[in-house]
Amino acid sequence: MEDVEEELEKLRIEVERCRRCSLHRERTKPVLGEGPAPSKIVLVGEAPGYWEDQQGKPFVGAAGKFLNELLASAGLKRSQVYITNVVKCRPPKNRDPKPEEEEACAPYLERQLSLLKPRLICTLGSHATARILSFFGLKPQPITRVHGKTFRTQSLLGEVFVVPLFHPASALYKPPMRSLQLEDWKTVGRLLAEIKGFPEEILNFQNRSLLCRRAPGHG
Ligand code: URA
Ligand code: SF4
Repeated sequence: MEDVEEELEKLRIEVERCRRCSLHRERTKPVLGEGPAPSKIVLVGEAPGYWEDQQGKPFVGAAGKFLNELLASAGLKRSQVYITNVVKCRPPKNRDPKPEEEEACAPYLERQLSLLKPRLICTLGSHATARILSFFGLKPQPITRVHGKTFRTQSLLGEVFVVPLFHPASALYKPPMRSLQLEDWKTVGRLLAEIKGFPEEILNFQNRSLLCRRAPGHG
């Protein structure tokens, strides 16, 4: 059996040298991803921003701070999930990645998923949602319609649940998005408890943290 961490390390080196699309020209550090490997839960964002490009890590800026809150509302901590993006290099001025850039970078994401073997993939925002739904042979759908819903897929990766979610950054510009996103992530928490065979260490932490937050006022 392949050593997943070793294979991901090889991928990291490949990505550091990658020139498959023009995003390589202005990147400081590419961002392959971060988290446990293999990982039962994988989050897929859009592209590195300024701070991610500086540090070579995903979601370390303002959107990342809010992501930590969202994870907590699902009863999860960041160290329990693997986080990556559709494209691994920062688009200049944080513009949206172009279709040809996403296409060029897609093989890295696909290799990551086949190594990580997730049971749950949360897509963050419209780009990741379209990419992952089509990866599983599903029709891309607007994020406004499918956010918080669960897609159950069967593929070479086995049974994988996909939950499209809004991009955490959208709450930074539109405050009403905060509560909507927190609600969506609560449904992720409930789904985890329902997925058969989900690792005890994640479920136990989930129970504890959900209980902790209920404790005030409940004795
Ligand atoms: N936004 C993303 O989509 N990904 C990151 O890593 C940071 C911000
Ligand atoms: Fe290569 Fe992806 Fe970076 Fe483009 S974004 S240069 S395909 S690693």
